[in-house]
Amino acid sequence: MTRQIVRMAGDGIGPEIMTAAGRVLDAAAEKFRLDLSFQDCLFGGVAVDETGTPFPAETEAACKAADAVLLGAVGGPQYDGLTAEQRPEKGLLAMRKALGVYANIRPVRNIPALAGRTAFRDGHLDGVDIVVMRELTGGIYFGAKDRGTDQESGDWASDECRYTVPEIERIVRRAGDMARQRKGRVTSVDKSNVLMTSKLWREVTSRVMAEEYADVKLDHMLVDAMAMKLISSPADFDVIVTENMFGDILTDEASMLAGSIGVLPSTSMGDGGPGVFEPIHGSAPDIAGQGKANPIGMIASVAMMLETGLGEPEAAAAINAAVDAAIEAGDVTGDLGGTLSTDEAADAIARRV
Ligand code: IPM
Ligand code: MG
Repeated sequence: MTRQIVRMAGDGIGPEIMTAAGRVLDAAAEKFRLDLSFQDCLFGGVAVDETGTPFPAETEAACKAADAVLLGAVGGPQYDGLTAEQRPEKGLLAMRKALGVYANIRPVRNIPALAGRTAFRDGHLDGVDIVVMRELTGGIYFGAKDRGTDQESGDWASDECRYTVPEIERIVRRAGDMARQRKGRVTSVDKSNVLMTSKLWREVTSRVMAEEYADVKLDHMLVDAMAMKLISSPADFDVIVTENMFGDILTDEASMLAGSIGVLPSTSMGDGGPGVFEPIHGSAPDIAGQGKANPIGMIASVAMMLETGLGEPEAAAAINAAVDAAIEAGDVTGDLGGTLSTDEAADAIARRV
């Protein structure tokens, strides 16, 4: 059975890391006899340039028909002047909504070979193994946005944050399922001392976990405390479940526990339909086209695609082991202290696969 993969390389370093990760995927496909076919689609700024819109209808149709979607990165300073509707980031949000990928899974593990590159003292990161389960298609990202001018106060702007019970239930179930396969702990993050959506979030989370996941230990934490605890005691956490914007902020913070944001993958999935697999870093326009980009975040995303999206855990494990070995050996790009180019770093991993 041929599996159809849509590739959206996007902007900035997106194309180079997508090409580099392709070499590793080719190696895994050959070794594990995977039958994959690829379709490259326009997405993000490059789609704005060519079609006037960041998520063209053709791309949307291709994604919906695919078994999995690989995404590089979107955005760049040249798009800063565009209207909100035209911005590459708008395409990202539209894509998440259109594909219904409400669960964004961002794993962060301590990588011993990179511990020296972190800001933490020796041993502080031992045992860090966290998955952030970020709600991705609701909350303030998708609420009503408004701007106006009042006689008295002058210009104003507002962003509505709204959550429904089913939206909270389904992401909490994902977190509960994930915790069962791991250390059996969920920490739910909210701001229930201030926000109405957070009060609902806490109520629903408590109920779902008590009724359906009594075997999983649940804690609640306020987001400001979480921001601190992620740094002071990162090894204390297993699965962290939180709403869209808190998850956005906390996952950038958590990435520092791995040593570099350049190595971290993510999966976004809904109920059925293709998952979207992408590195958590951005388009890094400052280094685009120079062969300096670290391909590991994209390669690890390919591994997540093989495991979760295509049900090929052996191929995924081979890639992950090859990534670890390459990092161990120092066969990495400059951001991780190596001397390799993007392609060379990918080849060093492909060879090990
Ligand atoms: C992310 C990014 C996006 C987000 C931006 C580019 C819209 O930061 O995937 O974390 O905020 O969701
Ligand atoms: Mg982000």
